[in-house]
Amino acid sequence: MKRCDVIWGKSTMKGKGLLLAGLAFLIIGLVGLVGLALFSSGIAPPVATGSTPAARGAWIFRTGADPDGQPILSSGGMMMSASCAGCHGVGGRGLRTPMFVSPNITYRNLTDPEGMLEPDGTRGPTYTADQIRRAVTQGIDAEGQSLAWPMPRWQLTDDEWNDLLAYLKTLP
Ligand code: HEC
Repeated sequence: MKRCDVIWGKSTMKGKGLLLAGLAFLIIGLVGLVGLALFSSGIAPPVATGSTPAARGAWIFRTGADPDGQPILSSGGMMMSASCAGCHGVGGRGLRTPMFVSPNITYRNLTDPEGMLEPDGTRGPTYTADQIRRAVTQGIDAEGQSLAWPMPRWQLTDDEWNDLLAYLKTLP
């Protein structure tokens, strides 16, 4: 009887330890989940107010959403046309995928006086900032040609465009 008590007592202690550890993990997990939910539901503004244009532009570039977290509308392109970074790479230097090849869209490359360096190594047109805007919003390149279908037409406000341009200018 006594022996049994001792064993019982011991195992309860162990159980308590495990229970506490379990609770701790549960709480950490819950905090993480709530944080994620808040983030993805857009309750917390993704970009702090008072941030720089380039910081807001980086947000647009990477997420395809405006600084309030609302997705920016676009037409054409592909179903997965989530963000500039998704198709042009995080650094904007272009990507090769089985579906399409996307060009280097850093401001530096697009406005190169010798003509932008195309993915195939040839030189294309030299863009002005306004022509970049037209390419992004209307899908027309610097020579007046329609851009290929994978490139969506983005409905950017003046503010969103200015932020995006500021960010494109920071890309090396
Ligand atoms: C679904 C993929 C996709 C997404 C998303 C996308 N692009 Fe593109 N983009 C392309 C492809 C592919 C081309 C090349 C089209 C062509 O060569 O005709 C292109 C071309 C361009 C061009 C013209 C460059 C040139 O070759 O003359 C600019 C500027 C550009 N994209 C900027 C952006 C910006 C800024 C965003 C985000 C707001 C964006 N793109 C999002 C795929 C995409």
